[in-house]
Amino acid sequence: MVEGLAGPDGVRIRYAQPQDADIVADLVKTAGDDMESGHVEALAQGRCGTWMLDALSGAGLAPPLARAAASGDLLTAAAAMSLPLVAQDRNGQVLGGLLCVPSGAVTAMVMKLPGPNGHALMSMMKYAKIKAVAVREDARGRGISTALLKRCIQIYWQLDYMLLFGEFETCRMLGPYYRRHGFTVLDPQDTIDVGTLLTGVLMRLGAGPGETFFHRWRGPIR
Ligand SMILES: CC(C)(COP(=O)(O)OP(=O)(O)OC[C@H]1O[C@@H](n2cnc3c(N)ncnc32)[C@H](O)[C@@H]1OP(=O)(O)O)[C@@H](O)C(=O)NCCC(=O)NCCS
Repeated sequence: MVEGLAGPDGVRIRYAQPQDADIVADLVKTAGDDMESGHVEALAQGRCGTWMLDALSGAGLAPPLARAAASGDLLTAAAAMSLPLVAQDRNGQVLGGLLCVPSGAVTAMVMKLPGPNGHALMSMMKYAKIKAVAVREDARGRGISTALLKRCIQIYWQLDYMLLFGEFETCRMLGPYYRRHGFTVLDPQDTIDVGTLLTGVLMRLGAGPGETFFHRWRGPIR
């Protein structure tokens, strides 16, 4: 993943490096989402996605996450458990990017439950939010975002995640786009239950105002 895997047209999909931080931040903005400064900083400092990379090499996510929780440092954990991917052409130009992160909203909801925070940590290891996927305007229509999403999905399922979800500004009309990538796109008032599976308590997750929610469960788990 560090060196990159083949995408369309000689493009390679690889892990974003510290020098990609600015361009990833710009791409995320074109997707209508502001990248929290914490993520840009983590990417620039080489701390973004590090645990995911280790996990792809066989290390578990649970031990570093439990240590971070014990020391009250879930922000560091959130950065290390994010997935920053870029699409790079033959000349080394970054044409597109994707950022997937543990969901702060879900973790916060689960943390409100009484008792120890084990379920909240589990939510960070089972659910992830596609924060943004974006391709430079002059490189669109060449299958680059499709390749980014495909790698992202492949990585999360390989790491035993159960749910990928996200939101887009409804005015972007990206319903057909996400549906063709295997996601379910909800009507504005609809929600999914992210609680019962992990905690036994119903927890509704859906779109914010002006946004459309999309999600994809792994395999047969619905
Ligand atoms: C949406 C976006 C990421 C697509 O990137 P891309 O690399 O051009 O996408 P691909 O070439 O992989 O296209 C995949 C398919 O989706 C279709 N598609 C692309 N944009 C679409 C849109 N806005 N609505 C519906 N379908 C769309 C393409 O026509 C293509 O279909 P095809 O396979 O039949 O040709 C790109 O247009 C973009 O960066 N937009 C601005 C940022 C944004 O809105 N991001 C999504 C919000 S998180």
